[in-house]
Amino acid sequence: MNKIKNTLFSNKPVTLDENSLIMAIESSCDETACAIVKGGREVIANVVASQIKIHEEFGGVIPEIAAREHLEAINVVIEETFKQSGLKGEDITAFASTVGPGLVGCLLVGMNAGKTLALAYDKPFIGVNHLNAHIAANFIDTELKPPFIALLVSGGHTQIIKVSSYSEMEIIGETIDDAVGEAYDKVARLIGLPYPGGPKLDKLAQEGNPHAFKLPEAKVGRYDFSFSGLKTAVLRLVKSFDGQEMPVKDICASFQECVSSTLLKKVKKALEETGYKQVVLAGGVAANSEIRRKVFNLKEEGYEVYAPIMKYCTDNASMVASSALLFDNTFDDINVEVFSRA
Ligand code: KG4
Ligand code: ZN
Repeated sequence: MNKIKNTLFSNKPVTLDENSLIMAIESSCDETACAIVKGGREVIANVVASQIKIHEEFGGVIPEIAAREHLEAINVVIEETFKQSGLKGEDITAFASTVGPGLVGCLLVGMNAGKTLALAYDKPFIGVNHLNAHIAANFIDTELKPPFIALLVSGGHTQIIKVSSYSEMEIIGETIDDAVGEAYDKVARLIGLPYPGGPKLDKLAQEGNPHAFKLPEAKVGRYDFSFSGLKTAVLRLVKSFDGQEMPVKDICASFQECVSSTLLKKVKKALEETGYKQVVLAGGVAANSEIRRKVFNLKEEGYEVYAPIMKYCTDNASMVASSALLFDNTFDDINVEVFSRA
């Protein structure tokens, strides 16, 4: 896997291989995170400072507040990562940061911290795409190698990605409106759950009847998705109770059933059409119990199934370090800018 990257200050070549120690920073949304990962697969230290408590009262992430919180947290999180690992800046092979997609003010904090560390210790800087990082979370503690189909489900994205090699990936399907996580959070809000509602909705769904209500499945392009109609259908259902007590658990379970079976159908189709034998789950919504259950059931049909453990599903920096080392489509330039959309 040997790769050559140049240091930022003196432009010296550095070889990256399975012994390389990457320190990575993630700050694209509401988590300030830092990690050190060896060879893209072995986590040495992983620190996450979550802002969820701060954004809870607003019912969503406020970008300006998030950026200020990252500024407050970034040095503490980096110091804690060094402390947990017992390593120093000189020991690190290269520094990496998420450069997009995400909230621009937030990304700037993490990217500049990464570039500064790389300059100060005269090491290479590697800019990472946040979505690739979510996929790369599947490399942690596994032997996974491409080719595979990735189902990326997060608060901002819903994509089916054909990963043919470490340098070649193609988005073959995506949502035409709401992302899955967004749909979860909006529906959760409709039934009165606090932000972020996804995990709370998932919990209630596990106690409800998934066939209590028949909700509509959108008919869109081959691998594409649409969840806004489903959200409206839930809104209508909620309104139909008109102040009477709602069967909240059954509504949650029926919504979860509709979403998870739609996702599974398209993933299966992608596997059948590409002939790939491996499938990976990625993104914050990969923590969802029913989506995991349905995708893991594909094992019975002879597929290899991977999903990160819970703490590497939601935003973290270990996945950024894995992506920086193992995937080839990185941004290795001191002049790279942050970007908000994929
Ligand atoms: O990937 P992520 O941490 O942040 C980005 O969007 O990049 O994903 C966060 C999203 C939120 O919408 C949250 O509600 C959702 O993931 N989520 C879940 C679950 N855990 C997190 N949605 C459904 N079920 C879950 N168990
Ligand atoms: Zn994310």
